[in-house]
Amino acid sequence: MQSRIQELVSQMTLEEKVSLTIGQDFWHTNGVERLGVPSITVHDGPSGLRKPLPRDEMGIAAVPATCFPSASALASSWDVSLAEAIGQAIADECQAMDVQVVLGPGVNIKRTPLGGRSFEYYSEDPVLAGEMGSAFVQGVQSRGVGTSLKHFACNNQEFERMTISAEIDARTLREIYLPAFERVVKKARPWTIMGAYNKINGTYACENPHLLRTILKKEWGYEGVLVSDWGAVNDKAKALAAGLDLEMPGRPGNHTEEIVQLVRSGQLAEAAIDEAAARMLELVFQAVEQHKANVTFDPQEHHALARKAAAESMVLLKNEHEMLPLTEAALSSVAIIGRFAQEPRYQGGGSAHVTATQVDTSYAELQRVLAGKGQIAYAEGYAEDGQMSEEMLQEAMAAAQAAKTAIVFVGLLDKEETEGNDRSTIDMSATLNRLVTEICRVQPATVVVLCNGSAIAMPWIDAAGAVLEAGLGGQAVGSAIVDVLLGKVNPSGKLAETFPMRLEDTPAYLNYPGEEGYVRYGEGLFVGYRYYDKKKIAPMFPFGYGLSYTTFEYTGLSVSKAEITDSETLAVTVTVRNSGARAGKEIVQLYVRDVESRLVRPVKELKAFAKVELAPGEEKAVQMTLEPRDFAYYDSEQQRWYIESGTFEVLVGSSSAYIELQTTVLMHSASDIPHFNKLQSIAHFLRHPKAHAVIVEQFKGTPLEMFLHHEFLVSIPLIKLSSFGAVSEETINGIVEKVNHAVRAR
Ligand code: BGC
Repeated sequence: MQSRIQELVSQMTLEEKVSLTIGQDFWHTNGVERLGVPSITVHDGPSGLRKPLPRDEMGIAAVPATCFPSASALASSWDVSLAEAIGQAIADECQAMDVQVVLGPGVNIKRTPLGGRSFEYYSEDPVLAGEMGSAFVQGVQSRGVGTSLKHFACNNQEFERMTISAEIDARTLREIYLPAFERVVKKARPWTIMGAYNKINGTYACENPHLLRTILKKEWGYEGVLVSDWGAVNDKAKALAAGLDLEMPGRPGNHTEEIVQLVRSGQLAEAAIDEAAARMLELVFQAVEQHKANVTFDPQEHHALARKAAAESMVLLKNEHEMLPLTEAALSSVAIIGRFAQEPRYQGGGSAHVTATQVDTSYAELQRVLAGKGQIAYAEGYAEDGQMSEEMLQEAMAAAQAAKTAIVFVGLLDKEETEGNDRSTIDMSATLNRLVTEICRVQPATVVVLCNGSAIAMPWIDAAGAVLEAGLGGQAVGSAIVDVLLGKVNPSGKLAETFPMRLEDTPAYLNYPGEEGYVRYGEGLFVGYRYYDKKKIAPMFPFGYGLSYTTFEYTGLSVSKAEITDSETLAVTVTVRNSGARAGKEIVQLYVRDVESRLVRPVKELKAFAKVELAPGEEKAVQMTLEPRDFAYYDSEQQRWYIESGTFEVLVGSSSAYIELQTTVLMHSASDIPHFNKLQSIAHFLRHPKAHAVIVEQFKGTPLEMFLHHEFLVSIPLIKLSSFGAVSEETINGIVEKVNHAVRAR
């Protein structure tokens, strides 16, 4: 392949090569007919295919496709095989509709629950986001269709999304915002990666050589195509030089000529064009080779998968007196309240919006299931725009009061969750909060069903009997809700993001959304549960939390070795038993904590997880693996990952806030070599045993000796001894050299 591509590149004119780096139109790449290079088609995802109808290239109206749960919902399933299966199904729809690349998944970190695209992203945690994203990419690409991992990088808000600069330190970038991308790149090799709109530390993502060339292409060895988000290129020459391969979309009068001139005048290296052209050819031929003619898919089968996925993604947040699953008695008379029961909210707005093949409603499904068995009353509760008249409220309350059980369907409205717009609050509308409050007041046996793609506050939580977070669950969410309420499916999802009590408690509160073109990521590493843990702020529902209709017991946590080196992996085993009366699934979470660290670190961090299915009474040993990197932090000064020697805690939790079992492992790190310099305090030298020995020996019997015995004096930087005339700068340099030599000696 490589030689064929090099050969082709060498046969192309500069104009032809440049044309490959710009789209033909909104959804197609340019081909080179003369040399038999075809154009390929790309369309949006990632929760389903959005293929705009002909002559509607901005894509408001699209060809019907299966709408699966949004990424935010799917992540709550923590089920990588499900993400893979959905990827395969979407790829089959792409093959059937002649689409070669689907634009997704999005693995950006949910920095704030206000982010307008939170529903398109998986999690606040990079391991969960990276694992779900990898599985999705593997699923799609295993069926011969490419993906576009997006939006690289630090695309965490919609406010000024095309111009804002994310101001972020190197360590936070490496430990929080890049690892999900890194994981997907290394594990699943996405055919393309989409560069974000925003700037990072002042440079546009698509023109950022550090991000694109140094990190992505060189360090991670990425070999695919880097495509711009639609309209994200501001300076094409800079983008090409930085490592971007394809600018999208194409536009009339593409600036091919301008680029050609820049190359001819020596302002842009032709090598950059050759590289982009070669990568484009590789992509095109891969797509052509893996294209399958005459693929069909069964919409019913895909709908069934969407239903299964929606049920797996739901999170049971509250279940007072085991109100759920609803009993026959509770179902004998049910009041269904809320328009979402008939007009479900199942996806977010913007480029990810899918035209569903069919839509299930909870109302119709309940009617079907309860036919002849129970009475159903329905009250709309609120209109499409979220308004509620006094009459509507009275009607809903009367229905709730008259029934044995009330099920209230609320959440966020379409206009509140869409690309291009952040939310300004984490509250549901005052109207919907009032509706829930009033219904719970007249009917204690109330189940609240929530349809939203990001965290919300729940001022009525204490009054509700049960709360089911259904998320934006895709086109089958309506029937899947009934599957869970009635116990056909035992809920097993766990929150992929923290649900805070109040907006003021959220990590980015003081820094978001930024001003004058900059947003400072001032909370640093402390995003999501890392923040709540460190600040000891109790959220309403923690990351990783979710109830089941059964219970689980954890026993027998063990690690494969009590001591390891920084090049070894560690196997962690724990036994989980279903101690309740129903079959169910448990999501086992493995966190790591560095007990003592040179630098500030989160209290604990998720490093692995497993979902295990258990019959009543059944137990299984669950094994997870920790890689060396799972113990490391990023050292910005040395620009590398670094593992410290010492004790690490290995924590197994049923949520981030509930650690069931824990043990320790002792790390012996070969890279554990501190580097001393003369600007550090004398106290800093004295804290390290080997440095301590050198300093004591050097100062012994000299006037400097007294410095070692005063807390006040040891706090000064070593070099200051020369300013005080106590010793020359050369002597200090010599001491530092000796110290560094001594600490390196093994
Ligand atoms: C979005 C991308 C999307 C692209 C094409 C952009 O506005 O940010 O996620 O893939 O449009 O529709």
